[in-house]
Amino acid sequence: MRKVQDYYFKKAKKEKYPARSVYKLEEAQQKYRFLKNGDTVLDLGCQPGSWSIYAAKTAGPQGLVVGVDLQDGNKVNIAKAAEIIWLHDDITADDIVENIEKIRKNFRVILSDIAPRTSGNKWVDQQQSLNLARRVLELTDRLLESKGNFYVKVFEGEDFKEFVDSVRKSFKTVKIVKPKSSRTESREVFVLGMGFLKR
Ligand SMILES: C[S@@+](CC[C@H](N)C(=O)[O-])C[C@H]1O[C@@H](n2cnc3c(N)ncnc32)[C@H](O)[C@@H]1O
Repeated sequence: MRKVQDYYFKKAKKEKYPARSVYKLEEAQQKYRFLKNGDTVLDLGCQPGSWSIYAAKTAGPQGLVVGVDLQDGNKVNIAKAAEIIWLHDDITADDIVENIEKIRKNFRVILSDIAPRTSGNKWVDQQQSLNLARRVLELTDRLLESKGNFYVKVFEGEDFKEFVDSVRKSFKTVKIVKPKSSRTESREVFVLGMGFLKR
């Protein structure tokens, strides 16, 4: 397992991504192609920035990426890619939709790799992760375009099925993804929703 982690760590360094978590997005993208050229992408919990950079490269110069994080970190932009607007904010804040809408009213893709600060208690961490994933789904109702896609991390456990059921009500196709680059011992999985059924 350590070997696999070293492999992704070195690969990220070589490909100039600030975190190896980029491969948890890349693997799903290579299989399901839910990010396209020209896309507008909202990346929630974006720091240190690997997913936003990957999405910007995939969307290309015609696209746009808005990255949101509690941490005021990386603010890079790269050549021949979509512009990335880095927003320092909390997705649970009451005014988050207004703050994002000041930049753009809706998006073709919403990504979330948000992780709660771990407490050491598995049950508490899983519930917090689920609450954040539910919050992402709420924001999706306001900010995702009809037929858009969403890819969200959540820790598997109690109430996970109920969360997936609520995603199924909002998307035409739903897949549960466990990327190879995710530690096998980690309870994280990713829920991919394609074809948003906007009410
Ligand atoms: C695993 S990291 C994301 C890594 C990122 N996808 C990348 O590839 O570089 C999770 C991020 O979620 C952020 N986060 C946690 N709770 C948040 C919240 N309520 N609002 C915004 N960001 C949050 C953390 O600050 C952290 O930077």
